[in-house]
Amino acid sequence: MQPVRKAVLPVAGLGTRFLPATKAMPKEMLTVVDRPVLQYVVDEAIEAGIEQFIFVTGRNKHVIEDHFDIAFELEDTLARRGKDKPLAQLRAQLPAAGTVSFTRQQEPLGLGHAVWCARHLVGDEPFALLLPDVLIKAERGCLAQMIDVYNTAGGGNVIAVEEVPEDRTDQYGVVEVSGEGPAYDVTGMVEKPPKGTAPSNLIITGRYILQPRIFGMLEHQEKGAGGEIQITDSMRTLMREDGFKGLRFEGTTHDCGSKIGFLSANLAYGLDHPEVGAELRQTVSALMT
Ligand code: G1P
Repeated sequence: MQPVRKAVLPVAGLGTRFLPATKAMPKEMLTVVDRPVLQYVVDEAIEAGIEQFIFVTGRNKHVIEDHFDIAFELEDTLARRGKDKPLAQLRAQLPAAGTVSFTRQQEPLGLGHAVWCARHLVGDEPFALLLPDVLIKAERGCLAQMIDVYNTAGGGNVIAVEEVPEDRTDQYGVVEVSGEGPAYDVTGMVEKPPKGTAPSNLIITGRYILQPRIFGMLEHQEKGAGGEIQITDSMRTLMREDGFKGLRFEGTTHDCGSKIGFLSANLAYGLDHPEVGAELRQTVSALMT
C-alpha cells in the first residue's frame, strides 16, 4: 500500500457567485475570520500528513502563489518593528521549500479536467483531492479521518460523503452505498442527477483519496453534467475496478462557494475563535434582537 503524500487543490474557478468581491481577488483567498479559505484546507491536508501540494490555477491567481511564499518586505518590516508574534505566525505557516507546485488549467473544461492537468506532478501514486470551496469544521480533520479509512482498507479510494435534503441532491455528486457505516462501500455514483432521480441523499463532499489510474480514465472522459468533464464519471469507472469507500465523516460542512455557506463559515469559525468568539456571540445576539 502506497502512502498518500500529495494533495491536488483545484483553484482555477472564476468565483462568479462572489462578484464584485472576486473581480481582482481569487475566491479561495476570501477571508474566513483571519485566514484565507484556502489556508484552512491546506491546514487540513497538513494535519492528515500531506507533504506536497499541487495547485491547479488559472489566470488572475498570482496572489495564491504569493501567499505560500516568503513575504520579504513584510517580514523585514515586522522584524524591525519588533512584531514577533505575527512574524512567527507567518514563518510557521510557510511551506518547506519545494513542497508547493503550480500548474494551470488553461480552459475551464470541468473539475475532472482540472485534476487531469495535475497528472505529471502527481505521477504514479495515490493522491488526495481537496476542493477549496468546501470547509469542514471538525475535531479531527476530514482528510485525516479518510486517511484512517484508507489505511484500514489497505489502500483503494475513499471519498467523503454526507446527507443533504432530497431537494438539493441535483447540485452535487450523489452516491449509492452498501454495507455498514461510517465507511460504506460505494456501489454507484452520478454527477448532478436531475431532480427526483438521485439514488440517495448522500452527496460527495469535496474530499477524495484517489488512485493514479484515474488519470488514464480522465484522459478519455467525455463531457458529462453541465457539459463539463466530471471527476465523478471517471470515479464511477474506477469504482468498477478497485475498492471505493464513502466515509460519512464527523464534522460540519460550510460550502464557501455560496454566499450563505461563506457567511456560516465566518460565524462558525468566529464563534469558536479564542480572540473574538465571546464578543462575536454578544454582537450576533444583539443584532438578532
Ligand atoms: C463538485 C463535484 C461534486 C461534489 C461537489 C462538492 O461540484 O463535481 O461531485 O458533490 O463539488 O462541493 P461543483 O461544486 O464544482 O459543481
